[in-house]
Amino acid sequence: MKTVLILAALAVIASGAVVKTPLTRQNLNIGTIGARDRILLNRNVLKYPANNAIQSEDLIYRGNYNITAIRATERGYTQYANAFLISGGVGRRNATIRFQSARGYGYNYDVVIYGR
Ligand SMILES: *[C@@H]1O[C@H](CO)[C@@H](O)[C@H](O)[C@H]1NC(C)=O
Ligand SMILES: *[C@@H]1O[C@H](CO)[C@@H](O)[C@H](O)[C@H]1NC(C)=O
Repeated sequence: MKTVLILAALAVIASGAVVKTPLTRQNLNIGTIGARDRILLNRNVLKYPANNAIQSEDLIYRGNYNITAIRATERGYTQYANAFLISGGVGRRNATIRFQSARGYGYNYDVVIYGR
């Protein structure tokens, strides 16, 4: 019981810190881009800020080549958004990437999927 309470307190402190401290960009950076890899997808994913809202969307990619790397890089000033892989990815032919804004913010990512 004591342990549980301590963990809960730590969680509160940690999430408080997340809100106040400007973090590094939450970019998605998986796999290694090889010399023979080609660009399978190159796209900008943009959402404008909306009052008091957390916005999100999934980018679903399906193709004919094996994916070797995925890069989702926040463009411009950071908006504390998040990009993460929810299915597929390196070694697969498909990938679903979720983009999620911070409350009241938008996001602006350059997404590149590489493969061969
Ligand atoms: C793609 O991946 C499959 C296994 O998932 C493998 O059999 C095939 O050789 C790979 N193709 C290339 C070009 O690497
Ligand atoms: C990705 O491919 C796998 C098979 O390799 C399939 O089972 C899965 O449904 C596909 N997912 C998407 C989002 O296309």
